Amino acid sequence: MPGVAVIGLQWGDEGKGKASAYLARGASLAVRFNGGANAGHTVTLDDRSLSLHMLPAASVSTRKAAIGPGVYLDLEELFRDLERLEKVLGRVEVTISPRAHLVTPLQKKLDAKLEEARGGAAIGTTMRGIGPTAIHKYGRLGLRLCDVLEPELLSSILDVWARLWGDLVKVEEEDVLAVIRGLAERARPLVGDVSKLIRAQLETGGTVVFEGAQGTMLDIDYGTYPFVTSSHTVSPAAALGSGVGLRSIDRVIGVSKAYTTRVGSGPFPTELKGEVADALRERGGEYGATTGRPRRIGWLDLPQLRYACQLNDVDAIFLTRIDTLSGQSRVSICKDYEGVEGFYPETVQRLWKVRPRFVELEGWPLIEEDERRVLRREGYGALHGNARRFVELIEDELGAPVKYIGIGPRVDDVIEK
Ligand code: IMP
Repeated sequence: MPGVAVIGLQWGDEGKGKASAYLARGASLAVRFNGGANAGHTVTLDDRSLSLHMLPAASVSTRKAAIGPGVYLDLEELFRDLERLEKVLGRVEVTISPRAHLVTPLQKKLDAKLEEARGGAAIGTTMRGIGPTAIHKYGRLGLRLCDVLEPELLSSILDVWARLWGDLVKVEEEDVLAVIRGLAERARPLVGDVSKLIRAQLETGGTVVFEGAQGTMLDIDYGTYPFVTSSHTVSPAAALGSGVGLRSIDRVIGVSKAYTTRVGSGPFPTELKGEVADALRERGGEYGATTGRPRRIGWLDLPQLRYACQLNDVDAIFLTRIDTLSGQSRVSICKDYEGVEGFYPETVQRLWKVRPRFVELEGWPLIEEDERRVLRREGYGALHGNARRFVELIEDELGAPVKYIGIGPRVDDVIEK
């Protein structure tokens, strides 16, 4: 499977970092194609845990990464990631598209201003400047990496920013520009043609992992707008955001937790409050990798996942954190929403009002290190019957195979079904 897209099926934080690092073993290139430093892809190697914000987590397996033009590029975060990664792995080769739009301190300040202006309707953004960078990009006022490196257009872009945003830009203007120029110069040797690089890998039989950021329900068009991010997060974005055609994506692996989480505001039909949610949050360390915020927790939502599988043309599911859900006497799954049949509510106005209907299943015993060792050795058949029933119910209801099951935090804590 030469071109593999790894896509979040929920509201982000599904464990895509670990999933794509696992799927990229033996692959030749890892590509980020959307989002920005709002993402926090955590990957655990032996006892070391790395949280990467700009580089694909799959680079721990490929040591060769690319950042496509669909990414909102925060150069400071990129170099921080690179330093962290190289300390653990040695040299990592990175190619960055010159067309990627830069996130600067202006966009971060505007992120805070916009959230303030939204008041009670605030989205709960990560404050990484994503929305304002998208405003600039699609308003054709954006500052791309090439605009700093080939500066013919630079002063006209900054003039427009100054006219629009006045005092916000003036503050420390010179300093900020000097920092951006310095970072861009540091990035200059890494700049290259990402789509050509991917094509070359695919043409010579290499495997390329396209690692999505955020999740389907945060997609700008298909998510719970306006409580979404400012990128496309669905599978076609893997092609669009990295400069290849749709036929370069041979397989779509959808990543879902065995339950649901979201951070920030917006509808969450299966949200849980109370003891079970608190226990899952603590056991799973469910705090934002980028912001440290506690994540909202809920049961698995099959109507939502059905919608996500269809939108993304999912070939197989990577179900993560079956271990985090272990040790519960009973677990629930939402099978449908009362009175809603055959479609997924397309607006948040409707989604706020749905009433989820749950089925209860018996839980399975705690999965800890000893059990993990057995499971790694013996595979799916060694998984407790109740956990297998849980997995098989998901497959039946979604019509997609659960091919990979995450049983722990490390990259190789996976069983294949
Ligand atoms: P923004 O992408 O920072 O503008 O935030 C918009 C919404 O997307 C907020 O609800 C964020 O919490 C959410 N979000 C953005 N990135 C991630 C992520 O990587 N994981 C989970 N939620 C995210």
